[in-house]
Amino acid sequence: MNTSRRHFLRRSARALALAPIMPVGRLALQGGSDGAPGDAASRSPAGPGNPQEAWVARARAEIPASTESLYFQTGGIGPAPNAVIARVAERLDFQNRSPAEPGISIEMARIEPDLRAQLGRVFGAEAEEVALTHSTSEGIAIAAWGLNWEPGDEVVISNQEHPANVIPWYVLRDRFGIVIREIDLNTGTSLIDEVRGQLSDGTRMVSISHVSRNNGRTLRTDESAQLGNLLRSRGVRYHLDGAQGPGCVATDFRALGCDCYSTCGHKWLLGPKGTGALFVRQELLDDVQLSWAGSHSHAAMDYEGEYTLLPSAARYEFGTRALADFAGFARALEWTENIGLGKIEERIQSLVDHAIETVDATDGLGVSSPRSHPDRSGVFVVQLPDGCHATQLYNDLREDEGILASPVRQERDFRLSIHFFNTRDEIDAAIAAISDRCA
Ligand SMILES: Cc1ncc(COP(=O)(O)O)c(C=O)c1O
Repeated sequence: MNTSRRHFLRRSARALALAPIMPVGRLALQGGSDGAPGDAASRSPAGPGNPQEAWVARARAEIPASTESLYFQTGGIGPAPNAVIARVAERLDFQNRSPAEPGISIEMARIEPDLRAQLGRVFGAEAEEVALTHSTSEGIAIAAWGLNWEPGDEVVISNQEHPANVIPWYVLRDRFGIVIREIDLNTGTSLIDEVRGQLSDGTRMVSISHVSRNNGRTLRTDESAQLGNLLRSRGVRYHLDGAQGPGCVATDFRALGCDCYSTCGHKWLLGPKGTGALFVRQELLDDVQLSWAGSHSHAAMDYEGEYTLLPSAARYEFGTRALADFAGFARALEWTENIGLGKIEERIQSLVDHAIETVDATDGLGVSSPRSHPDRSGVFVVQLPDGCHATQLYNDLREDEGILASPVRQERDFRLSIHFFNTRDEIDAAIAAISDRCA
């Protein structure tokens, strides 16, 4: 692409992308009212000639960050719709009127069981299999520490993990002498062959990403289920790090065949920061042992040394909790469900098609993430030419162009997290800006 076309594309796409969709007062009314289920994004009639873009425009009007910048950082931290923030504020305010008043505390206490049931319904689990956490990392830690590790026990991870699925294993290695083995989940390798190649009599757990934050590779549900069967037959626990899963790709806990699945509310589900969930198969609740426990982990206890844990995954939770944030998580789920998770995924996939075509048409750039569905996700990774450094590029794009994207593990890989609220114009602008600096 020649330079003047690139400049034109960048200027016009940014102008388009950042143009206000409606006046701020209207925006606040629409998103901030926390109205009844059925948000504007799903309710409003389609505009003439461009039905898909019409609902997207309405959703963007409810997500301030989507028009403040070119927001390609959902894989790092997702923006939230106004309705989510309004729900958190409203519940905090409600609770604060008199936190100890039963009329208030009983209503607040419904938030967690309702959210567990909602998460279970949406992502293929029973409510009893859901523990509410504050992050994916917390879920990973609960799963990782849920075994009684012995020196020489082995865990299998991959070369495409976030530190959240690496650090716990380093700590367990240093405390208990476990051995960490690594499979290659670069684009195009065989998951089953890779895991088979690392299994030994000492393997006790496999812990890998459902969707890699580094290269966007997504485990297909059928291959994950196949791996689950293989591991179960060998008595090996199977944990998936699902930070990048729900809200980005189709996610069904049962169908994936894993034993434990950790995720968060604050990325693709657009929930409040510091919300998450861990799914644990019901039949394994007594085997995924508690490392930390406390008040509320128990169904019964006395002061003579007796206690009984809750029969559900809620046993992994304890102490006084941020209930208003969990109410916001529920609101975010409701908001995305009102649009439709299937519709969101379809839109992400069509934007990724567009991103692939655009990168293919741009000299000097390549695509590092998988090219075909269902191996790919909204985690779209551009391969930069030699001499172009992702960290420098990240800083330049943020400071000069208002484009928020991310470096990942390889210095020549640059991640655009493409969510449904992004537009083709924004993708063109981002790729043109990358090309300007690198190609
Ligand atoms: C694959 C993966 N796992 C874990 C995490 C950590 O997530 P959290 O901040 O919810 O602990 C991230 C965050 O980017 C991630 O991409």
